[in-house]
Amino acid sequence: MCGIVGYIGHREAYPIVIEGLKRLEYRGYDSAGIALFDGNDLKVSKTKGKVADLEARAKIEISNTGNVGIGHTRWATHGVPNDVNSHPHVSNSGELVIVHNGIIENYDALKQELITRGYTFQSDTDTEVLINLIEDVKKKENVKLGKAVQVALNQVIGAYAIAVFDKNKPEEVVVARLGSPLAIGIGEDESEFFIASDASPFLEYTKNAVYLEDEEMAVIRFHKGIKVRKIKDDTIVPTYVQELQLNLEQIEKGGYDHFMLKEIHEQPKAITDTYRGRLLRNEAIIKMAGVEDNMKRFLNADRIIIVACGTSWHAGLVAEYIFEDLARIPVEVEYASEFRYRNPIITEKDIVIAISQSGETADTLAAIKLAKSKGAFVFGVCNVVGSSIARESDAGAYTHAGPEIGVASTKAFTTQITVLTLIALRLARAKGTISSSDFRQHLLELEMIPKKVEEALKSDEHIKMIADIYKDVRNILYLGRGFNFPVALEGALKLKEISYIHAEGYPAAEMKHGPIALIDENMPIVVIATKKGHYEKVVSNIQEIKSRKGKIIGIVTEGDTQVRELADHVIEVPETLESLSPLLTTIPLQLLSYHIAVLLDKNVDQPRNLAKSVTVE
Ligand code: F6R
Repeated sequence: MCGIVGYIGHREAYPIVIEGLKRLEYRGYDSAGIALFDGNDLKVSKTKGKVADLEARAKIEISNTGNVGIGHTRWATHGVPNDVNSHPHVSNSGELVIVHNGIIENYDALKQELITRGYTFQSDTDTEVLINLIEDVKKKENVKLGKAVQVALNQVIGAYAIAVFDKNKPEEVVVARLGSPLAIGIGEDESEFFIASDASPFLEYTKNAVYLEDEEMAVIRFHKGIKVRKIKDDTIVPTYVQELQLNLEQIEKGGYDHFMLKEIHEQPKAITDTYRGRLLRNEAIIKMAGVEDNMKRFLNADRIIIVACGTSWHAGLVAEYIFEDLARIPVEVEYASEFRYRNPIITEKDIVIAISQSGETADTLAAIKLAKSKGAFVFGVCNVVGSSIARESDAGAYTHAGPEIGVASTKAFTTQITVLTLIALRLARAKGTISSSDFRQHLLELEMIPKKVEEALKSDEHIKMIADIYKDVRNILYLGRGFNFPVALEGALKLKEISYIHAEGYPAAEMKHGPIALIDENMPIVVIATKKGHYEKVVSNIQEIKSRKGKIIGIVTEGDTQVRELADHVIEVPETLESLSPLLTTIPLQLLSYHIAVLLDKNVDQPRNLAKSVTVE
């Protein structure tokens, strides 16, 4: 999604904003722009394409001196990606400039009104409407910029994070948020301020940040500090400065060619970090504050509803199998985008678990607001600490995967499954649906998963060779059963999003009900066929594929011989409990997608049209 960066202080704003935009590239975007006050005038440079294209253009169009600047990476919603629609947008007078994430839903009505008042528009964007609305209020009511922004935002329906400044008063930047994240980095002695969609652009300058809450705005004044207010009624909100725990190294590639590959290889550590301090094997207990504190609610719940999108939804599907199998609690897994609009039946005895890496996905956030309004208890499983979903939830558990920069989710998925497994085991113990020896066995096996993921990662070269054979196909089918059916869905999603090859995931036995018609000698089929997961049944499915000449890539348990005899290729993963097997079978599928995309020369970390955190619905 779009990214915002801004700076006001004693340093040159240009390099801070440009480097900051590069840090936000992972969010996904199609154009970029920057606005600076160079001491004399407002200078704007923007272009379709990448931040590198912006740099080339800005070199010609703007001098890079000046201590206040705002920048933007745009992921098109209103209006195609082109130079004109790129941000920043300047008001009709040429005095005010804005960058904006989100969508102004009533922009057309506002635009028509502004047109009748003589305003003209260059772009197709809702953002240009907003900056002219702010200008109109400022002139009509003869108020300062902060007040004008506040009055204008009260007329707006939609979602936003914005940064605005006035070239006649460049010692102040006004920011606001509703539904789209915005952080303000506080420099030493409050002599400089950084603005960004997340903290990554300003980590090397400061570890102190204020995160705006929804419906809050701030006026940031050079040397004078920040004042946070409620947009609705102007009440002053005390500023809460957080100390960030994030390091610069965590958001750099660390010698890997791509963030995705780095994050795939980080999984042993990420999974360990997820269960550290929670899984206490010697004491044979699982300790999770969010669950302990609400144990009564969990034990009295009629059912658990899981809401999520994309890969997080797949983690939810794995959790459905795990919760029902271990804790015997009925689970429904819903696409957040469907759930929020279909008048679902939710009661006070329901627990809604929202899963989200970013914690900012608009549909998931809306789904939990709906669930809360109907009295359900909401438990968030998020990676990004302090994110909107984490804050909106009644309780929760972080995944502790560390920053995930690659757009294709990898370590977020396995750590989500890890957290959800811990919760299921804890509840199973409390409910008595698991025996003490089974419980201990699960703890032992879970603790061994990071080592086994390391083992699975050793197949990298072999998988690269398989990727080379299949990189030019048009379609791939992924099949799995039971706990590994969602892994088949996830494998297919990983492939399509970064290589643009069409892929479908299916429960293996469903193949007979349609997809089998696709199978011929040109169709590769990835089949997850681990020893404990309905193995014999899956082997029969493989036979069916074989007799139709499909090409079989089997994901098998170490030492397997039966599938090896039938398959064209096998990739081995270590043996584990069936319920934990998704944590291992996922690994080769991530690597297969990665290598195919690299061999096809695709932009692995920033696939076309995709955004890392989808903050619009
Ligand atoms: C796929 C992917 C997306 C996200 C989805 C939800 O690789 O990354 O499908 O999983 O957009 O995002 P979060 O988990 O941030 O809510």
